[in-house]
Amino acid sequence: MFSEVNSMGVWGIEAYKVSVETNISRGNAYFDIVGLPDTSIRESRERVRSSIRNNNLRFPASRIVVNLAPADVKKEGSVYDLPILVGVLLANGELDCDVSDAVFVGELSLKGEIRAVKGLLSMAIKAKELGIKRMFVPESIAVQAAVVEGIDVYPVKNVEKLIAHLKGEEEILPQKAKSFEEIKQPDLLDFADVAGQSFAKQAVEIACAGGHNLLLIGPPGSGKSMIAKRIPSVLPSLTFDEAIETSEIYSVSGSLDNKHPMITTRPFRSPHHTVSAAALSGGGTSPTPGEISLAHNGVLFLDELPEFPRKSMETLRQPLEDGKITISRVAGSLTYPCEVMFVAAMNPCPCGYFGHPKRKCTCSSVAVKNYLGKVSGPLLDRIDIQIEVPPVSYDELVSKKSSEDSESIRKRVENARNIQRQRFKDDKITCNAQMSTAHLKKYCVLEDDANEYLKLGFERLSMSGRAYDRILKVARTIADLRNGETISKKDIATAFRLRSLDKKYWNNL
Ligand SMILES: Nc1ncnc2c1ncn2[C@@H]1O[C@H](COP(=O)(O)OP(=O)(O)OP(=O)(O)O)[C@@H](O)[C@H]1O
Ligand SMILES: [Mg+2]
Repeated sequence: MFSEVNSMGVWGIEAYKVSVETNISRGNAYFDIVGLPDTSIRESRERVRSSIRNNNLRFPASRIVVNLAPADVKKEGSVYDLPILVGVLLANGELDCDVSDAVFVGELSLKGEIRAVKGLLSMAIKAKELGIKRMFVPESIAVQAAVVEGIDVYPVKNVEKLIAHLKGEEEILPQKAKSFEEIKQPDLLDFADVAGQSFAKQAVEIACAGGHNLLLIGPPGSGKSMIAKRIPSVLPSLTFDEAIETSEIYSVSGSLDNKHPMITTRPFRSPHHTVSAAALSGGGTSPTPGEISLAHNGVLFLDELPEFPRKSMETLRQPLEDGKITISRVAGSLTYPCEVMFVAAMNPCPCGYFGHPKRKCTCSSVAVKNYLGKVSGPLLDRIDIQIEVPPVSYDELVSKKSSEDSESIRKRVENARNIQRQRFKDDKITCNAQMSTAHLKKYCVLEDDANEYLKLGFERLSMSGRAYDRILKVARTIADLRNGETISKKDIATAFRLRSLDKKYWNNL
């Protein structure tokens, strides 16, 4: 007897349909799975056999062959346990129902409980695209799939309940979706807590408004980490499509459950400097997205940047440029998206006080040079805004005057982003930081005196072409924040101030 059951596999964050074909024929007891399965799928046999027996169903003592089609794609993971079980029961005559409009995904326990799998959201999106009507998924993660409209998602707790449903004895109700509002948002730290530092706050506002990468440099205790940790509170809200994209990455990495079925706010990832290059970029024997992809559509923050190994910094270079990262594997290469705003903080030297207005730096000039030299040049090149965070003064620290709160800053950021979305609607980019040279020509129109001013600065500082592009991009964002059509002299002057570190520390304009 033969049966065919639909299931899904995931490669990167792309899902594809897998047909689970089961053939039971006469012969000695035998059970094999073919179609490029890895070891975890081979172990499926034990889980399927045991789940069937422990639910008082008959496991055929005949020759069972399961084929996972297409046979030329390597299959990984335990997601096929459930469709294999259904396939065996159908071919065996224990079940008799039409499942051609359904897909099954789930790992089995030996008792027949159904456990979570990775990548369910991508599978649901693909299933919908393929016109599939029903999806049987592990109960513990079902809400994740329910966000996809037009497909009934059945949360399945165990084999017993699934069989009862398929036999029409006891119906499982489709999972209801949760709205954005129902999903708990993380509590965010507020900029109102940060005393003084108005220039650093303005830099953060501009960086968030235009999606620019940002470097904060300054002595210990000046509030760099404090400021960076408050960035999520001023980021523009995620659009629904962006939320789905980011959630897919979290789904593939297995970090969503029914309590947190979706990522609804821009992620903020701040890996420690001991993180391995692989954990940062993604990969591993069973491939998972790295920190840079988990920050997709949000922020990747590296605190104490020079402490990160050179190799880690180098791995970030290309992905920061491309907005995606490709990982080579024996079975082929896979790609994860990583459109991020990159933020880093650091001290200017080992003791932290180089350039401090009052305290004396105890480092030798070679030590300072070596410390700054730890930051990869090409990585620095990709950071549009680099500013100094000076020590906060006593008066500012104890001042009763409250600082502006995050919500007011966020409103301006959101407004500037809306202008950019409108501007780039036909350009396949979303923010100023992503502009190419052609976009710069088209969208960065300078007022006459701004042009003069930029020319003067360019010549006096002997700037490179790349630095010129950066100034224009940042100036465009500054103009957007004040609803300006054209770029003014003041915008250009502010953009120059946001690059003052180049000359002071790296001599790299
Ligand atoms: N501008 C500020 N307003 C209010 N509190 C501040 C400010 N700057 C620093 N602090 C206080 O000092 C603490 C240390 O600041 P933070 O960790 O951000 O310093 P840092 O610049 O990251 O230092 P390091 O270089 O050592 O990492 C903060 O948690 C906060 O309590
Ligand atoms: Mg710090």
